[in-house]
Amino acid sequence: MRKHIVAGNWKMNNNHSETHQLLSDLKQQTKSSNAEVMVAPTYVNLQYAVSELGGTDIEVIAQNMHFADNGAYTGEVSANMLNSIGVKTVILGHSERRAYFNETDESLAKKVDQTLANGLRSIFCFGEELADRKAGNQEAVVESQIKNALFHLEASAWQHIVLAYEPVWAIGTGETATPEQAQDMHAFIRKTLRDKYGDEVAENTTILYGGSVKPNNAKEIFGKPDVDGGLIGGASLKAEDFFAIVNAF
Ligand code: PGA
Repeated sequence: MRKHIVAGNWKMNNNHSETHQLLSDLKQQTKSSNAEVMVAPTYVNLQYAVSELGGTDIEVIAQNMHFADNGAYTGEVSANMLNSIGVKTVILGHSERRAYFNETDESLAKKVDQTLANGLRSIFCFGEELADRKAGNQEAVVESQIKNALFHLEASAWQHIVLAYEPVWAIGTGETATPEQAQDMHAFIRKTLRDKYGDEVAENTTILYGGSVKPNNAKEIFGKPDVDGGLIGGASLKAEDFFAIVNAF
């Protein structure tokens, strides 16, 4: 059975004291849903967050990592480093990484391989831009993003992959895909997995939706059968809002 997951991506927000505050606020919240809960602080505060949230059921995850084992890659962080501080999940291929830091399907394929080699789970993000949707090309774009970065994997690797469909036009814009648009795309993604890997991988892979999920729209989006959770940006920066979304399941 696939899992329900709600993950908060804090992006480049929160200095150390703000991180301390948000972590304290999160610890005050009560979870009344079966969703796995994750938060992704910046690297600077990652180890601190791991220790602060130890003993809770909120998992601390990373926003990015490099594909190499180690070496001369100034400013980068490796899978082994994440593992060594107790971080077991990493977001890969967020549209902001693709747009501003030139991440490509090819480099992302290497990053996914590196997570698997190090026993990490990835939340692999992809999604079409507004122009793609206006042209009716959204399925073709999404299919090629998935195929190029992930279809070299063996079926058994998929237990370590979570997908996150994030239409670029809905991220941070306040504009959400309608629940129907999300469901249609998630069903298409699951069909794409089924065609390549069969029922077991298709049914067991968690597919998150991301893009302006808020407390007031989460329930409707999560109510769709192929939407297994959310990747939350802006609304994850307030503990109350984030848990309202978590508890929307
Ligand atoms: P948003 O961000 O919720 O602020 O739209 C979503 C994301 O980038 O994952």
